[in-house]
Amino acid sequence: MIGKLNHVAIAVPDLDAATRLYRDTLGAKVSEPVPQPAHGVTVVFVELPNTKVELLHPLGDKSPIAAFLEKNAAGGIHHICYEVDDILAARDRLKAEGARVLGDGEPKIGAHDKPVLFLHPKDFCGTLVELEQA
Ligand code: CO
Repeated sequence: MIGKLNHVAIAVPDLDAATRLYRDTLGAKVSEPVPQPAHGVTVVFVELPNTKVELLHPLGDKSPIAAFLEKNAAGGIHHICYEVDDILAARDRLKAEGARVLGDGEPKIGAHDKPVLFLHPKDFCGTLVELEQA
């Protein structure tokens, strides 16, 4: 059911330092910082030949990654995102299998203007999983 790895999202306490690390030390192609107020984050996109890494930094008071960074002061992998062909069919199949979908279970428009859902990390090997409509 799941398709391509769309991105790995890494929460970082210092976006400039993380950008330099990926651009200068790792030699990756990185974007300018993109504020996404609706999602409570500023994102730097790291383009790799086969997928993306997203460096996430809190934006505003209600950032969904603030608590994560309190627990992981040096930053860390926040979630991974898999593409699915049909997000509603994927959701229904996962719920039937007993997996928990976060929030009200309805897809929201994600950072790439496509419908996304998040799955409970306790049901997926301790990893927060994002599904994105391909
Ligand atoms: Co994501």
